[in-house]
Amino acid sequence: MNAPKKILCIGAGYVGTPTMAVIARHCPQHRITVVDINAEKIAQWNSDSLPIFEPGLEEIVKAVRGKNLFFSTDIPPAIREADIIFVSVNTPTKQFGAGAGMAADLQYWEKTARQILEHSKSSKIIVEKSTLPVKTAQAMERILDAAETPIRFDVLSNPEFLAEGTAIEDLEHPDRVLIGSQETSEGLAARDRLVALYENWVPRERIITSNIWSSELSKLVANAFLAQRISSINAVSALCEKTGADVTEVALAVGTDHRVGRHFLNASVGFGGSCFKKDILNLVYICRHYGLHEAADYWNGVLRINEYQTERFVLNMLGSMHNTLSDKQIALFGFAFKANTGDTRESPAILVARRLLEEKARIVITDPKALENARKDLAGLSGRIRFENDPYTAAAGADAIAVLTEWDVYRGLDYARILAAMNKPAFIFDGRNILDHPALHRLGFNVYAVGKAPLTRFG
Ligand code: NAD
Ligand code: UGA
Repeated sequence: MNAPKKILCIGAGYVGTPTMAVIARHCPQHRITVVDINAEKIAQWNSDSLPIFEPGLEEIVKAVRGKNLFFSTDIPPAIREADIIFVSVNTPTKQFGAGAGMAADLQYWEKTARQILEHSKSSKIIVEKSTLPVKTAQAMERILDAAETPIRFDVLSNPEFLAEGTAIEDLEHPDRVLIGSQETSEGLAARDRLVALYENWVPRERIITSNIWSSELSKLVANAFLAQRISSINAVSALCEKTGADVTEVALAVGTDHRVGRHFLNASVGFGGSCFKKDILNLVYICRHYGLHEAADYWNGVLRINEYQTERFVLNMLGSMHNTLSDKQIALFGFAFKANTGDTRESPAILVARRLLEEKARIVITDPKALENARKDLAGLSGRIRFENDPYTAAAGADAIAVLTEWDVYRGLDYARILAAMNKPAFIFDGRNILDHPALHRLGFNVYAVGKAPLTRFG
């Protein structure tokens, strides 16, 4: 089962590389290659300055790179030699033609399938690691079987559930690994080979097997459920602000019921990240495709509440600051879509920044890891934008601070020092509910948190 194998991963992104690095660490007997069409990214993976920040990743990459983990742009020979190929290319929302703005754009995935077919000289297991619409494996098999060669391709679905910022921990100790296969003898044999690979470090009872369509659909549904919890608590936060209830207390009271659970009930400025929105849009699209419009509307509501929440946050800022932000300086504490990553894809901070600029505010952005991406996200927007590494410098001269990412560093700042350097009255809008609001209020801030009564200094 565990004879040395050549494993290839196509796509050296947030999922492909961390996953392969962890496999390489636990399977020294296997040789693992990660390829990408982006030569700059591959050069970075081969350098001391990795293209993404993910806690614990650098240490593993440096330990296994050049031993049994290799990065390359030379895709054809890598395909030829591989026994198992993971496909981990991006599957963004389609921006053109039929399904634009909703369906998954499968062009990168399909190009990969065709490349595998073109360069293969022996039979292989193909593993869908990317998040794909249910029934994609069928399309994959049709492409791979089109050439009528004696080469056999067994397609498996093995979606990834890691979250950014905790990717290595999630890969090392997954809640579950899901492997879907065709229920033929060949499909089940291929499945067992992938199970054996994971068994190198994942307990067998955590490896779930299923039919291939269940596996593909489960990935979309898992993200939809997680996002649905956030939208549920965010919808409740709006009601808390009107009624004097406190969303943290409500979340605790509800989440301590073990049938509900405490996780993913933190009210916020809105969820971001590259996947929740695109995967729910895809789920909505698939439901509509099958004529299931009520189901589609249900999941679409999760996205509508998320947009409402971010917009509500901005309107709260505007309303609290006397209905004008014109020429006011606002420090954005955090730009990444969550803590412990430099990733800003679909970050609510992008929308907040854009809306504040429309109100003619001057914005100063600070973030420990995401300033480079923030610059790219806001390039082309007109308005006054500054980027600062140091939160104290970012807040100096500001009228307000908006906390948009739950970085630990923002909890421990000297807010008396910050307040002293701000314009008065000074406002703080905690879009992540991470600060000590009564303490900030005592210092002299007007404090607005999500789903809580404001603590103001006004009579
Ligand atoms: P990414 O954009 O970080 O990486 C994808 C990589 O694939 C890019 O570097 C791109 O250049 C490369 N690529 C595209 N076409 C290629 C081709 N033909 N040949 C070789 N390389 C090619 O994306 P990601 O965040 O790693 O996501 C990959 C997939 O995993 C998506 O389907 C996503 O939904 C899913 N996923 C992502 C996460 C996450 O936390 N980011 C978690 C679980 C699942
Ligand atoms: C999410 C899922 O958690 C992963 O299981 C999945 O593999 C991944 O999407 C994917 O398919 O890409 P990720 O987007 O990296 O992972 O991060 P999350 O921790 O899920 O956070 C997503 C967003 O929700 C962040 O903006 C976060 O701040 C926000 N969030 C999270 C809240 O607003 N409240 C919460 O209680 C939890």
